[in-house]
Amino acid sequence: MIKIAVFASGGGSNLQTLLDASEHGLIKGKVSLVFSNVPECGAMERAENHRVEAISIASKGYPGTREEYDQEVLQLCQAKKIDLICLAGYMRIITPVLIRPYLYKMMNIHPALLPKFGGPGMYGHHVHEAVVKAKEKESGATVHFVTEGVDAGPVILQGNVKVLPYDTPQTLAERVLKVEHQIYPEAVKLYSEGKVKVSGDRVKIIQ
Ligand code: GRF
Repeated sequence: MIKIAVFASGGGSNLQTLLDASEHGLIKGKVSLVFSNVPECGAMERAENHRVEAISIASKGYPGTREEYDQEVLQLCQAKKIDLICLAGYMRIITPVLIRPYLYKMMNIHPALLPKFGGPGMYGHHVHEAVVKAKEKESGATVHFVTEGVDAGPVILQGNVKVLPYDTPQTLAERVLKVEHQIYPEAVKLYSEGKVKVSGDRVKIIQ
């Protein structure tokens, strides 16, 4: 059983799917920590409802550097013996201080088909706006390992949705979110079963 920490800054619907998957025994692991940089967010409330430890360190007004912040977070995760970190709407760029010790032990979900529509500035509604504007025929969601390039790590799973002619960024976001809720627990399940291997800069799923 692996110990999982989920990092979130917002409503936490992806966190919810991971909490549910963990509680229902779908993954060989347990969400044992929810961490946030926003103390008063929906994700913290969801963790408390599930009696999962919820810890936050406010990034707004934090007195130190980004690296010092991440050093604190790293110490927290190491003290709690966290095996896997899942970023789920964690609205903060993570520094190598935290990425390196958790290389290939930290995943993120991105609401587009990476490598398209990723990188700095491509988050939240910006992604869906860009997809609609570019008149893409399809979009989707990607679970990937976190490396030092923003949204650039090896892809673990992707799920597609069609972009419909009458889609707005909002309607597209809603359909993509449904896909996120399917593929994130699935990716964590595969990881927890030891079926996700990194070879070079690619992921191999062993069945
Ligand atoms: C999701 O769209 C995710 O892809 C992005 O942030 C959003 C978080 O939504 N990184 P929620 O807080 O899980 O509902």
